[in-house]
Amino acid sequence: MNTAKALLKASLGITSFLKIPIVEAQPRPASATPIMVPIRSIGPREKGRIENHLLALDAQDRYLRFGYAASDEQVRRYVEGLDFERDVLFGIYNRRLDLIAMAHLAFAPADQPSDCAEFGVSVSKHARGRGYGARLFERAVVAARNEGVGMLFIHALSENAAMLRIARKAGAKVVRTGSEAEAHLRLPSATFDSRMSEIALQQFAQLDYHLKTRAKQFWAFLEALQEIRSGVRSARDHSSP
Ligand SMILES: CC(C)(COP(=O)(O)OP(=O)(O)OC[C@H]1O[C@@H](n2cnc3c(N)ncnc32)[C@H](O)[C@@H]1OP(=O)(O)O)[C@@H](O)C(=O)NCCC(=O)NCCS
Repeated sequence: MNTAKALLKASLGITSFLKIPIVEAQPRPASATPIMVPIRSIGPREKGRIENHLLALDAQDRYLRFGYAASDEQVRRYVEGLDFERDVLFGIYNRRLDLIAMAHLAFAPADQPSDCAEFGVSVSKHARGRGYGARLFERAVVAARNEGVGMLFIHALSENAAMLRIARKAGAKVVRTGSEAEAHLRLPSATFDSRMSEIALQQFAQLDYHLKTRAKQFWAFLEALQEIRSGVRSARDHSSP
């Protein structure tokens, strides 16, 4: 599926450029009505969340994600070495603002062809099969396109059926060499539409994040209030004759 088609599928139907990724919140039949998933850019202040998300992946998932079974130390070094100036990271958060899925769009370093980028992704085990991996890929494609990337690379192991399916469905060419598979996707040039899509996607995700932040703060306030109330109640019970 090409970007335009994927985004069209995700369209809110308001204008041609207001296109929001949509996914199933839980694994459910294709006939069910999809819901929207906000995908937000991740900044350097969220290194802790990235680390928590990646450290929670088991050895097999780390092997699929990084191409080797990264140790905790290697995961921490990867997070520490992230270049937020050059690359783009995207995340999907739950209501507690934990990162439950993330993608890393790595642009070429200065000495490499500037129109190439690499895509890496991971989804927490409990959140798989809801379309998050595919939506993050679509989101990365929009961003890459708008940054002038003409070729997007995905390094996957041949056994990684889910990742290869995402890449193939997007139209990527997959070349297998033994246990490894290299997929690359040619991207069309940026258009006014693709740029406006990205702005709309970012604003939608930002709004969602603010709402979740406020809800989380309010729940914390209510919990504190509850503790004070029960403290007062038990003090009253103890002091009454
Ligand atoms: C690969 C990964 C990101 C997929 O995430 P996900 O959110 O579960 O994927 P989606 O729900 O978007 O599914 C994508 C497609 O793969 C299919 N799929 C999912 N799991 C599958 C599996 N185990 N076998 C075959 N196909 C599978 C889905 O049915 C879907 O296809 P469809 O659109 O035709 O229905 C996730 O499994 C993961 O984090 N794995 C560990 C890290 C990793 O492998 N990263 C990729 C290399 S960088």
